[in-house]
Amino acid sequence: MTQDELKRQVAEAALKYAQEGVIGVGSGSTVNLFIDALASIKGRIEGAVAASEASAERLKKHGIRVFDLNSVNELPVYVDGADEVTEHLHMIKGGGGALTREKIIAAVAKKFVCICDASKLVPVMGKFPLPLEVIPMARSYVGREMLKRGAQPVLRENYKTDNGNLILDCHGLVLLDPPIIEAEFNNIAGVVTNGIFARRPADVLLLGEATGVRTLRKA
Ligand code: A5P
Repeated sequence: MTQDELKRQVAEAALKYAQEGVIGVGSGSTVNLFIDALASIKGRIEGAVAASEASAERLKKHGIRVFDLNSVNELPVYVDGADEVTEHLHMIKGGGGALTREKIIAAVAKKFVCICDASKLVPVMGKFPLPLEVIPMARSYVGREMLKRGAQPVLRENYKTDNGNLILDCHGLVLLDPPIIEAEFNNIAGVVTNGIFARRPADVLLLGEATGVRTLRKA
């Protein structure tokens, strides 16, 4: 099976969590396949809240209503991908730059369903460079602070987030205690958010493997 087939498999498996109401939808290539699959059952949901402008556009193209998060009181489920994930359902996210909106929607959602192909499962996170969304005037300061913490920060070139900020991709980290490090990096002035999702991990991980979809649940 190709990586795309594994992604499609988990995207389709996630449909069973989209039963009613407004669905939280993340961003990235796996989520794009989920949005395409969602179109086939759009009659049973009210619509979606999207974590990126790109996802919102794709949802609208399929005729799925897109809600502003402020107009929604509750979100039963949020479906999103990850760049790395552990068996504790901690994740690195933000490869596509949408980490802040993703973290906000994840905070609101009752159930976070992470959809990934098997290559994303790792014993310890950090090989994938950790994205930090940074206020532009704080770029150099945050870079220096990350150097002190053992990372090599690289500015994502020619890139602005949907919120008008920058991304620093931080290489060389070994994230042994993700919830603690998540809080520490968020405390650096000028960091809007970082791509560790551990204080609010996923509740369910659907992992696309050659033998089928494996479901892991938060302990
Ligand atoms: C987007 O900002 C990310 O958090 C994505 O969820 C992540 O990069 C996974 O993307 P793919 O599904 O394209 O691998």
